[in-house]
Amino acid sequence: MKYPPTDNREIDIDDGPHEPSDKVLIMTHGLPRSGKSTWAREQGTPVVCPDAIRLAKTGLRWFGPIEHEVWATARTMVRALFLAGHKSVILDSTTGTRQQRDMFLPSQDVPWRRYLKVVPTTRGTCILRALSGPYPELVEVINFMADNWEPVQPEEEVIITNWGGNLGKFLDFMKP
Ligand SMILES: Nc1ncnc2c1ncn2[C@@H]1O[C@H](COP(=O)(O)OP(=O)(O)OP(=O)(O)O)[C@@H](O)[C@H]1O
Ligand SMILES: [Mg+2]
Repeated sequence: MKYPPTDNREIDIDDGPHEPSDKVLIMTHGLPRSGKSTWAREQGTPVVCPDAIRLAKTGLRWFGPIEHEVWATARTMVRALFLAGHKSVILDSTTGTRQQRDMFLPSQDVPWRRYLKVVPTTRGTCILRALSGPYPELVEVINFMADNWEPVQPEEEVIITNWGGNLGKFLDFMKP
């Protein structure tokens, strides 16, 4: 099974940055419709959201030809927010592939530590939400992402912790 994530490195839970000066990039980790943006908005922390960047650039929810610009802008926004003095930034994206996570490796000039905020909503719930919303075509995207989910590998140096305090819900992942 690729989704839900089966990574159990929550035993490595870190209470936060090692040094007070450390910058923290909190990357949400969950399927479309799982509740990532809802959570991100509640934190009072600057949010970098590729979906919002795409909408701002094109006025469309999806427009493939400029996708490279969306992600380049997202990385620049993360760097700029840290350079502006923010200690923590949220990346509001699915982060279900290594390629996507690797786009947010730290910059040498403004290094950060990467944490995951796992949003443990099952595939079935995400599909139900998509079907009851204005974009039922998301079901196909949800199934594709869930089938091709790439669990975080130890060498990625991402810390999985309980931002938002939902660690007790990890078992929910096991439901269909
Ligand atoms: N904890 C929750 N309980 C019930 N419903 C929720 C919860 N969090 C979010 N929702 C609802 O689920 C839907 C999707 O939420 P949200 O937009 O935050 O998800 P998302 O992961 O950002 O999705 P997308 O990847 O499509 O942007 C919304 O209708 C939202 O109101
Ligand atoms: Mg969202």
